[in-house]
Amino acid sequence: MLNFTFHNSTKIIFGKGQIKALSAEIPKDAKILITYGGGSIKKNGIYQQVIAALTEHEIFEFSGIEPNPKYDTLIKALDIIREHNIDYLLAVGGGSVIDGTKFIAAAALYQGNDPWDILAKRQAITEALPIGAVLTLPATGSESNGGSVVTRDGNKLAFGNPLVRPLFAVLDPAASLSLSDRQVSNGVVDAFVHTMEQYLTYPVNGNVQDRFAEGLLLTLIEEGPKALLPELKEDLTVRANIMWSASLALNGLIGAGVPQDWATHMIGHELTGGYGIDHARTLSIVLLAVMKFCREDKRDKLLQYAERVWQLKDGDEENRIDKAIQLTEDFFLKMNMPIRLSDVQLDESDINKIIPQLEKHGMTKLGEHRNITPEASRKILEIAL
Ligand code: NZQ
Ligand code: ZN
Repeated sequence: MLNFTFHNSTKIIFGKGQIKALSAEIPKDAKILITYGGGSIKKNGIYQQVIAALTEHEIFEFSGIEPNPKYDTLIKALDIIREHNIDYLLAVGGGSVIDGTKFIAAAALYQGNDPWDILAKRQAITEALPIGAVLTLPATGSESNGGSVVTRDGNKLAFGNPLVRPLFAVLDPAASLSLSDRQVSNGVVDAFVHTMEQYLTYPVNGNVQDRFAEGLLLTLIEEGPKALLPELKEDLTVRANIMWSASLALNGLIGAGVPQDWATHMIGHELTGGYGIDHARTLSIVLLAVMKFCREDKRDKLLQYAERVWQLKDGDEENRIDKAIQLTEDFFLKMNMPIRLSDVQLDESDINKIIPQLEKHGMTKLGEHRNITPEASRKILEIAL
């Protein structure tokens, strides 16, 4: 196992009806800016629950944070923050709202000239406004990590800092009942791929991390398809298992002390930045190709994955690896995800546009061995055609 420091300070408040706990979590003298997206929280009653919980607080609102949040949108929140001396942010939504709020929290107290430098020049931040989160879409783990992804002019860039990790997150599985099938699928597959990025590398005897990761993969494989069945659409047990799996998949726990890959995500971000494809739908396409391209580098873990996640114990090693990749593809198909670039209407000519973008963003040494060069990324995308 590799050396590590693990410190996840986000308090998780989990379960049905927990939104009312907001009242006690946020100091009574705080000036709160509630941030949210396009209005789903008003249709499903989450907004109303949040407002009801904060009757003793002074609140302001900032809405319109779009999926794959845009810098140009987020920066507008700074005017409200300055005008009203906001000192607490409450993000109510999915990964985009929470990520966007993290950027707002950092930008509001940024000492440099241009907050875009936090992303584009990886400028360190030294302060950020405190953030609380009410999660409505289990997927990204953003509710209890310090990561954030923001887009500007097609450039989808990430930054990470413990200062923007939410102080608390309310995880009410009932909040996810109003999700469309597409968003449920996206969430399950995003969490699945987060787990794979931290698991499917090379062995370092991180036995606890491996077993946790396998537990999450098995849970997502079992529960994900259930959430799409008409008879289980309202089932809170299914939703609870998905919500907790997605949170644990990217809260730092399974990635502590083990190598991490993230090539699938970095290539995927270019597909979203350039073509607006949903985050998780880039991952289902790219991961399968990464598994094939990195077959030798990942051989030991592919065999472990085949055995422990898909119960493939017998026969020739090559067949077991092939079968494990095939079963992963079948799972994505069951979740109605695209598995090839052609499924999202991209072809060879698009690969020629994506590779320079990866280079522009410094994504030239990806993967756990840092050996995924732009040429290797090209081959991965060609496998995905
Ligand atoms: O905007 P609203 O009206 O809220 O609608 C949203 C949005 O249209 C809707 N939605 C959310 N909760 C709902 C709901 N609709 C009905 N009922 C509910 N309960 O779902 C749509 C998508 O929301 P979004 O927040 O974009 O989805 P997701 O949670 O998948 O977040 C994706 C973003 O997170 C980033 C992605 O790159 C992408 O920008 N990621 C963040 C990570 C992190 N911070 O650690 C890691 C991930 O790998 C990922 O990169
Ligand atoms: Zn992701």
